Amino acid sequence: MFFAAGLLIMAACLMMTSCTKEGPAGATGPAGKDGTDGKDASETCKQCHAKAVVDAIAVEFQLSKHNWGSAAFEEAGNTGCTPCHVQKAFVYMCQNNVSTVFTFNETTKKWVNPYVTAASDAIGEIGCFTCHTSLHTTYTTSDLALTSVVPVPMTMWGGAKTIDLTQGGGKSNLCVKCHQPRPLVCGNDPAGRLLNYDSVKNFPLVVMFDSTAGAKNKYLKPSYRMHIHYGAVGGVYAGQGAIEFAGSVPYSNSPHTTLASCQDCHMADPMTGIAGGHSFNVRNAKETPLGSGTTWNFNGCNTSACHAASPIDAASTKWKATRTEIKGLLDALATKINACGGGHNILHSDATATNLWAGVSTGNFDGYLDIYSAGTNDDGYWRDPYNTGATNMTKPKFPKLLNVQLGAIVNFQFCLREYSLGIHNTSYVRALLTNSVEALNAAGL
Ligand code: HEC
Ligand code: HEC
Ligand code: HEC
Ligand code: HEC
Ligand code: HEC
Repeated sequence: MFFAAGLLIMAACLMMTSCTKEGPAGATGPAGKDGTDGKDASETCKQCHAKAVVDAIAVEFQLSKHNWGSAAFEEAGNTGCTPCHVQKAFVYMCQNNVSTVFTFNETTKKWVNPYVTAASDAIGEIGCFTCHTSLHTTYTTSDLALTSVVPVPMTMWGGAKTIDLTQGGGKSNLCVKCHQPRPLVCGNDPAGRLLNYDSVKNFPLVVMFDSTAGAKNKYLKPSYRMHIHYGAVGGVYAGQGAIEFAGSVPYSNSPHTTLASCQDCHMADPMTGIAGGHSFNVRNAKETPLGSGTTWNFNGCNTSACHAASPIDAASTKWKATRTEIKGLLDALATKINACGGGHNILHSDATATNLWAGVSTGNFDGYLDIYSAGTNDDGYWRDPYNTGATNMTKPKFPKLLNVQLGAIVNFQFCLREYSLGIHNTSYVRALLTNSVEALNAAGL
């Protein structure tokens, strides 16, 4: 080895002297240490590069929305969006333990969400190296270690709450790091404060928004996308983060929260059609609205550690009755929330497959508000209070919202957008939906 390298250095020196005529070549340096013997490379490679391992998993992964979804491309370059959408950004967040605690910028006099990646790291599709960032480090199977299993401070709460699913070595924390809700920032506050969720709960009758109040509106700006984003699952699964109004149902968690991991159901073995393994799907049907005769992979449920004694299938009580009950509660809360529209819903409906939650509620709600937005909600019924466009101004004014109504909308988003109609955490979803209706009743709404 050293001999070959020495020849190269000499060749380089010769070239320098012949081209630049800058003086004589220097003395040859001392010999380097011999390297340690390498492992037989092709043998360690085969631990992973075999038909049954990487090759098979790569095919399963083609079925995962992590792979075929387009968000990694759409959000590339955006330092605030890529932490959950893009490979290098996610790894950057984990390796630098980036804080979720909002900070105050003395120059701009604004609160800043620090949960952003470095601009140079805002690229890359989600792939093997996103979740297994050590791949090709030691070239042994220990390189499959997950990128992050540590507790997840919630970005929605500016770090005031932390999710830590310790079962299975914390492997669910990997998923929750991305599948968590995002912050609601007060667009009507010049300092851009994070919404104080505790106030929403403790002062239910305070006016959150009133179209006649002008500058007195201090909190969120109602809009088509006044929402917690799409990662409700992590919060619901852990039983954390929603607006926990007091009510007749105490807040508790179902056994899944401490006994099961995301992987148990979402990476079930063996696969059924397109569900299980590295497809991360539970449902064996692509983008089909719920309730249309789809089949499921219950292999993860029916293991000896879990439901083998009384197996789950689509007709079993644990599955069917739970989902029917939660759907009924979701529908009831939607009706309560929509009542303030005086005959027209404030929640947006979409029965097409564009709506990730089509069929989850009877009204095909998607968690957005039916506020006009040129290009994104052209059929919107209500006026956007913070847009003066001509079409927008022909729309009726958006109704007044009290804190309790905002809290109910947030809770509706949590319970709709956890997708599973309560399977993730029946107890928490049941409490949120029931107590939100009671809180609206108590406010006379
Ligand atoms: C711990 C498991 C593991 C080991 C050991 C391993 N690889 Fe990989 N390798 C992977 C994975 C996973 C991928 C990504 C496969 C994909 O994208 O479909 C990969 C991809 C590759 C690629 C494609 C280019 C790339 O980086 O994506 C090459 C080339 C490669 N490996 C070579 C090797 C060689 C040579 C060895 C042995 C010296 C080795 N690997 C050992 C897991 C491993
Ligand atoms: C790096 C962030 C990240 C991690 C880590 C992550 N996900 Fe995802 N996941 C996403 C994003 C982003 C999407 C949507 C991609 C798109 O739409 O382009 C997604 C999509 C999904 C989907 C499909 C959703 C749908 O609408 O059909 C499932 C299921 C899923 N993830 C489960 C998991 C599980 C289980 C884990 C842990 C093993 C996990 N994810 C880890 C970011 C992540
Ligand atoms: C805290 C993590 C996180 C951040 C930050 C984040 N997202 Fe997402 N986003 C997700 C997850 C997780 C999903 C996939 C949810 C699912 O399909 O179950 C998603 C889904 C999406 C989708 C796909 C929705 C669909 O209908 O298929 C879009 C578009 C999107 N995000 C845009 C953005 C934009 C724009 C930003 C920045 C303003 C952003 N995201 C920031 C976690 C995040
Ligand atoms: C969204 C995160 C995520 C992505 C992306 C991902 N993996 Fe994994 N992978 C996991 C998790 C989580 C486990 C551990 C499952 C468990 O312990 O329950 C795992 C386990 C593995 C294992 C060992 C156990 C097994 O299932 O055989 C291999 C090999 C593996 N992954 C390869 C890959 C390859 C190859 C890719 C890309 C094609 C990939 N992974 C992409 C999360 C991911
Ligand atoms: C007890 C089984 C179980 C566990 C554990 C579980 N899920 Fe799910 N998950 C489901 C079911 C069932 C659905 C509904 C699937 C559907 O409608 O396609 C679902 C849906 C989802 C979806 C929507 C995409 C899809 O496939 O429809 C995401 C994203 C998701 N889960 C993420 C997670 C994350 C992250 C965790 C861990 C924090 C987790 N899940 C734990 C059963 C489970």
